[in-house]
Amino acid sequence: APDISVENVQGHLKELDSIAQANGGNRAHGEPGYKASVDYVKGKLDEAGFETQVQEFDEGGATGYNLIADWPGGSGDDVLMAGGHLDSVTEGAGINDNGSGSAGLLEVALAVASGDLEPSKHLRFAWWGAEELGMVGSTHYVDSLDEAERGKIGGYLNFDMIGSPNPGYFVYQEDQALEKVFTDYFAGKNIETEPAEGTEGRSDHAAFSDAGIPVGGLFTGAEGVMTEDQAAKWNGTAGEAFDKCYHSQCDGMDNLNTEALDANSDALAHAVWELSS
Ligand code: PHE
Ligand code: CA
Ligand code: ZN
Ligand code: ZN
Ligand code: ZN
Repeated sequence: APDISVENVQGHLKELDSIAQANGGNRAHGEPGYKASVDYVKGKLDEAGFETQVQEFDEGGATGYNLIADWPGGSGDDVLMAGGHLDSVTEGAGINDNGSGSAGLLEVALAVASGDLEPSKHLRFAWWGAEELGMVGSTHYVDSLDEAERGKIGGYLNFDMIGSPNPGYFVYQEDQALEKVFTDYFAGKNIETEPAEGTEGRSDHAAFSDAGIPVGGLFTGAEGVMTEDQAAKWNGTAGEAFDKCYHSQCDGMDNLNTEALDANSDALAHAVWELSS
């Protein structure tokens, strides 16, 4: 897999931040910043040769949007999906939550295109709406598939918060094979990981695991507080939250750890290459 440029990931984040600032300061469901952000991501993917679809749903009297992007080719009977939520809370621009996962996914998708990847599996990326209202978009998507279409999805990888300012390196411990692809990658980079305990059901992978689809993913921590042991292994700050701006106005461009954003974006690419080949 290619080494993902963290500068490019930060470039997408800067765009998402500008879009939020120009639209009332957020990308929340039902607010103009959300749809404008979908348009930004979709434009990049269309230009790169993805087949994109915007799936609409209704939540709380407002239209929500999921952006689905298929990379042409590969076996349609064996689909690998990777996704994350593009919406933010209303309090702020949601740069770590979840601009980070959204931008990492976009840059990896663009790398698939520029590398002319010809995977044996079919690759599908997704940016979900209304996660912050209870994983509404991803649930709507999984519900919209018939049994045959659901059965073709061999795995779903979720990226929600991958650049926390006081980062932990947490790997979802749901499907063992998917977990191992990530833990092996980080081990090769001499980065210690921990299982992402208590994240089951807390983001968009929940709809997939509920449907019996194997799930995996990465997380650098939210409101949880880093322990002494974790601070020692990750060179972080004990007694401080992984993301002290979680769901707050201060989740802006300063609320990121570049090294973690880079390592997690590279791990995302590695998993997509490895699992789709
Ligand atoms: N889904 C939570 C949010 O968006 C954060 C989270 C991500 C929690 C991943 C656990 C695992 O606010
Ligand atoms: Ca990199
Ligand atoms: Zn959130
Ligand atoms: Zn989130
Ligand atoms: Zn629905």
